[in-house]
Amino acid sequence: MLIFNSPSNPSGAAYSRAELKALAAVLLRHPDVLVLSDDMYEHIVYDGFEFTTMAEVEPALYERVLTMNGVSKAYAMTGWRIGYAGGPTRIVKTMAKLQSQTTSNPCSISQAAAVAALNGPQDFIAKRARAFQERRDLVVRLLNEAEGISCPLPDGAFYVYPSIAGLIGKSTPDGKRIETDLDFSTYLLEQESVAAVHGEAFGLSPHFRVSYATSSDILREACTRIQRACASLR
Ligand SMILES: Cc1ncc(COP(=O)(O)O)c(C=O)c1O
Repeated sequence: MLIFNSPSNPSGAAYSRAELKALAAVLLRHPDVLVLSDDMYEHIVYDGFEFTTMAEVEPALYERVLTMNGVSKAYAMTGWRIGYAGGPTRIVKTMAKLQSQTTSNPCSISQAAAVAALNGPQDFIAKRARAFQERRDLVVRLLNEAEGISCPLPDGAFYVYPSIAGLIGKSTPDGKRIETDLDFSTYLLEQESVAAVHGEAFGLSPHFRVSYATSSDILREACTRIQRACASLR
């Protein structure tokens, strides 16, 4: 099974229709491969990016794609613990069997809340995406001003995943060498009380992930601290 997530956590990268189509062409040559499409950040896209998903782009794959989503991001309802999926009957039936014998079901109050979110007014989604876009632009600009950091501009989600290749091999004011992205994120935490996730945790180094799902004031302060931390490395 190919587990596919676009827009992505941790990079914010998103596949265009043409890119999905190209990936689908490869999958069509490998009929034994199922696809799990994690569409969690469907509604958090920028600069007019058109969200698409595998089952829509390549109908010939329809019978082997499991499409998943949830209310955690689009409706900021993480604590309600509701996700949902659409896919081939045999897979969904098996999922239901497994869940009914383990947790029975998500609590009915959460289910009702999710239905209200999905059927209710949706106008805030575009407004919130614009607010996120401003935060993304702020964070990308400030991180690119930091010495040794190179930060691409993502199309979606609320993360950036900058490279710190320019900092590897440098030393902190206490004389500790930054050899990995874990060293760097530990340094940020200890020196500046800034929490970020090191890239190795996601399988691609030397990077680190910053979430910008917070206020512009906090982000400005955090990025200023990151800039200061980078400038202190020798
Ligand atoms: C890509 C992706 N999928 C799914 C989830 C799951 O969210 P939850 O377990 O809150 O529904 C997350 C949360 O961070 C995510 O980043």
